[in-house]
Amino acid sequence: MPDAATTIRQLRDQLNRADRLYRLGQETGMSDLQWDQALKQLETLETQHPGLVTPDSPTQRVGGEPIDGFETVAHRIPMLSIENTYNRDEVEAWYTRTTKACGTDKLELAIEPKIDGVALSLRYENGRLTRALTRGDGTKGDDITHNIKTVRHIPLTLAPHADAERSEAPDIPEVLEIRGEVFLPQDTFDAVNTDKIARGEDPFMNPRNTTAGTLKQKDPAKVIRGLRFIAYGKGEVSDEAFTSHTDFTAAIKSWGMPVHEHEGIVASADDAWAWIEHFDQLRHELSYATDGVVIKVNRYDLQTQLGSRSKSPRWCIAYKFAAEQARTKLLKVEWQVGKTGKLTPRATMQPTLLAGTTVSHATLHNYGEILRKDIRIGDTVVIEKAGEIIPQVVEAVTNLRDGSEELIIAPDHCPECGTPVQIEYDSKRVNELAVYERAVEREKDKAEKEGRAPEAIAKPKPLGPTDESARYCPNPECPAQFRERLIHFVGRNQMDIDALGEKTLHQLADAGLLNNLGDIFRLKDHREQLLGLERMGEKKVDNLIEGVEQAKTRGLQRVLTGLTIRHIGAGGAKRLAQAFGDIDALLQADEEKIAAVEDIGPITAASVHTFLHNNAGQHVITELREAGVDLSAPQKEVARDSPLAGKTVVITGTLEQFGRNELKALLESLGAKVSGSVSKNTDLLIAGEKAGSKLKKAQDLGVAVWDEATLLKSL
Ligand code: IVH
Repeated sequence: MPDAATTIRQLRDQLNRADRLYRLGQETGMSDLQWDQALKQLETLETQHPGLVTPDSPTQRVGGEPIDGFETVAHRIPMLSIENTYNRDEVEAWYTRTTKACGTDKLELAIEPKIDGVALSLRYENGRLTRALTRGDGTKGDDITHNIKTVRHIPLTLAPHADAERSEAPDIPEVLEIRGEVFLPQDTFDAVNTDKIARGEDPFMNPRNTTAGTLKQKDPAKVIRGLRFIAYGKGEVSDEAFTSHTDFTAAIKSWGMPVHEHEGIVASADDAWAWIEHFDQLRHELSYATDGVVIKVNRYDLQTQLGSRSKSPRWCIAYKFAAEQARTKLLKVEWQVGKTGKLTPRATMQPTLLAGTTVSHATLHNYGEILRKDIRIGDTVVIEKAGEIIPQVVEAVTNLRDGSEELIIAPDHCPECGTPVQIEYDSKRVNELAVYERAVEREKDKAEKEGRAPEAIAKPKPLGPTDESARYCPNPECPAQFRERLIHFVGRNQMDIDALGEKTLHQLADAGLLNNLGDIFRLKDHREQLLGLERMGEKKVDNLIEGVEQAKTRGLQRVLTGLTIRHIGAGGAKRLAQAFGDIDALLQADEEKIAAVEDIGPITAASVHTFLHNNAGQHVITELREAGVDLSAPQKEVARDSPLAGKTVVITGTLEQFGRNELKALLESLGAKVSGSVSKNTDLLIAGEKAGSKLKKAQDLGVAVWDEATLLKSL
């Protein structure tokens, strides 16, 4: 009998080998059942011998503990986006521009599919996966390592190919950040939806949102199985052993990382185009959605030479395939009331197949758009999926009309509560008219002073129905708005009450338990009634009550984000919470004081002030306060044990690894105060390349100076 350690090692090898082959799309030699059995056996042995568990054991993919919230982590190198192009001319123009900038006339390009998934950064230290971050805002992302570990398609450890002679790859760098796209293949997505429908739940909308959603689960056990990953580039790498993109992808592939199997290497714009056309034919046979290709300058030295703009690098572009279109018949239009009261026309059409899914609804945006496009009920319409997500009506095929088509009428009363609607017009046109009014006034004044009749000024076209941009139900107590607001209020970035899904909210509202937002926090007083509702067991009710209790502590920023105040999103709410500290200070502020807050303009300030001082707003705040909801902003969280806590730091010169703002945010998160000029109060100067007078002054004053290497080491 082999000892436990040997069996454990054998099982791990067997599972890892199968995983590796699976990632490379090859026969694994193990059925799913055999794989599951081997994993079970390994789990049992590891439970008996806990000392033999290692962090990269295949068992560690599952069974991770649920987390309370996501930690936001700065990207060492920002995750940028890519400039889009839509036709051959634009691709050629980029090629010409780029070859010129590189000072050559022939440029090697790598072309890869662009997967419509979720961007991910994977950090490997000494070959072990240590951290997985979402793209977030490009400078910082959410740490989702606990969930990513469940993805079998992502290796927990990288290792050189067993057949070392075949591999010309360098050694695995100590720090290796690999970036790529995580996605749900279409058939897995369909299977998940079939299951959901069978359980009486609403199906997911599309694979991309489903992937993004499932990766934000707090409990790794709930992450959908069958996610896949394909790497497309590098982030931070400790040892620059690679000379080109293809060099890099070949190396990581040999270490077990999945990379694109379709990859073109071309050396002219014509060849690039030929590859794109070829791939456009082939891509529909792939098991996942691609919305374009990414074209990259292959050599890393040229990439560095070309550099980046603020949002996207100059060394690559995306070519986006035209959205797929279909024709169908428009059957009816309904007006849906959103959480802000906005009425959105939603088209119901004869179901038709579009880009792989059956579509029967599409958005018509607003009434002005319907009139401009002259879309009528009964029309044959062209629909398309923008970014392959939300279908839209592009146009009506007017030459197919037979005279039976009917005009679409916009409601002048809210379809839900009957309040007369308010109409808003295209802001550019409104502005044009305001400019005209002011010009007329000025001319009148001038003419009066000069004692002559005013000159006529050409009047712009008056606002017409086609300029309409939105209709609103202005009733803050409209039940339709209230339902949507409830859904928003309990959402992840607001009160984050997991147990209150859309269905449950509707159920509770129908049972009369939720008549205003404050009622959420009184649900615990209605335990018996909750237990009497359908599909509400003890466990679910306890869960719900527990979730509601926790939600009371989210703080002012999240409450403000959740209240659906027009023009206030998470960013604005954060500014207000930081500036005022608690709801009472905000309630005492007049419009002017609110408008003085950074990033808050006069329109937003007016909206906030109106909200807080009308009946509905006052009522909801009283309710929340009485329910014990925390309406204050926490003191900025600062790493107290950080050596930079409380220190005044100045940054100067050019840094290689950090943008200015990025570094500033990072230092502030470590408790430092970042100042613009060196004085005797400065504790530390961080000096990059080409540091000038500030460096000299710091040296004169005897202020500590760090170069970038020292900074990196101490971070
Ligand atoms: S290269 C700018 N290659 O597209 C950074 N990106 O629209 C270089 N994407 O955020 C990225 N497939 O998540 C690259 N083959 C591919 C890609 C790809 C999909 C994503 C990526 C990026 C987004 C920009």
